[in-house]
Amino acid sequence: MVMATKNALHLDFQWPDGGDFSAPVLWLRDVCPCSSCRVTQTQEKRVHLASLDCVAAEAIDPTHEGVTIGWVDGHTSYYPRAFLEATHARITPAWKPWCEDYFPNCYDFLAFQSDDDCATSAITEFLTSGVLLLGAAGQEDGTLERLSARLGPVREVLFERIHNVKVDPLGYNVAHTSLALPPHNDFASYSWPPSVQALHMLVNDAVGGNSTILDGWGVLEEFRRDDPAAFDVLCRVPVPFREFDEHNETYACEPIVQLNARGQIVIFRYSNQLMQVMDHRNPETAAFYDAYYALSRRLLSTNLSRSFRLEGGQILVVASHRILHGREAIESSGHRHLQDAYFEHDNVRNRLTVLARSHD
Ligand SMILES: [Fe+2]
Ligand SMILES: [Zn+2]
Repeated sequence: MVMATKNALHLDFQWPDGGDFSAPVLWLRDVCPCSSCRVTQTQEKRVHLASLDCVAAEAIDPTHEGVTIGWVDGHTSYYPRAFLEATHARITPAWKPWCEDYFPNCYDFLAFQSDDDCATSAITEFLTSGVLLLGAAGQEDGTLERLSARLGPVREVLFERIHNVKVDPLGYNVAHTSLALPPHNDFASYSWPPSVQALHMLVNDAVGGNSTILDGWGVLEEFRRDDPAAFDVLCRVPVPFREFDEHNETYACEPIVQLNARGQIVIFRYSNQLMQVMDHRNPETAAFYDAYYALSRRLLSTNLSRSFRLEGGQILVVASHRILHGREAIESSGHRHLQDAYFEHDNVRNRLTVLARSHD
């Protein structure tokens, strides 16, 4: 038994085999795994640090299997050694930029829906490459709803729950014309744009109109490496985006690249058609346009882009905070009907975790 130093920030001790252990005192008290500090039924934390007037260890008793800590308020904690030495990090497949010969595998729609091994491979590929291609999904209206079993609930936005994309003289968006659509992602006009987009081609008898996909994060990482100062401008300067029709008005003003606390890219927001007029009096506007022009030229010439014909019965799913999608111009007016719907990336990751759990 070792007496602890009162009010210490860290608690240090040696295991009987000589190994050192050190951890913040507040962390140790916070993660106490005992049944009065946890809701046993749910594994949630129950003790709240703020309810404790003083957090200090009084006695430390390490054995080969774990350590018992006596706290000044009379509580006793026991921590198995394996618990203290674990990283407690959740690992999901990390994204990887496309390699030179990357092309998405095509998974059978019914197998993806019904076979857990197929779904596990397909979702793992999706989390790595940002793309999932499904074939033999048929031509039935609303088929995308069935993907909820694997991708989680549909993420609704204003406009339709399932969008119909056909050439339509009354359409609210350039997608409803036969014009080419440069690489973009949808709903840049939302503070949190949908993070997964599924596009189901019901019928494609048109000439032209090839689908395009582009590894946006892959290009951004090249850009960051080659011109870090310009990349930083794209992370800093807010840009307005708007999508609207007669009944709806959506608007967000955010930098086109958003990073997390570790400096990793989390959202690439890119839509030439939805981008609004920036204030030319803002001194940042010139710097932004320099960087934006350089990045956009790169997007048009990158080898991290693929073009292919999405056939009737195929579904293309993209991680839309990363992958930009587009379309070449439709040359003839042969019947072409596409439906799209949105999902959320967190829910797709959840599905892989649950599949692994059921496998174990
Ligand atoms: Fe789109
Ligand atoms: Zn406890």
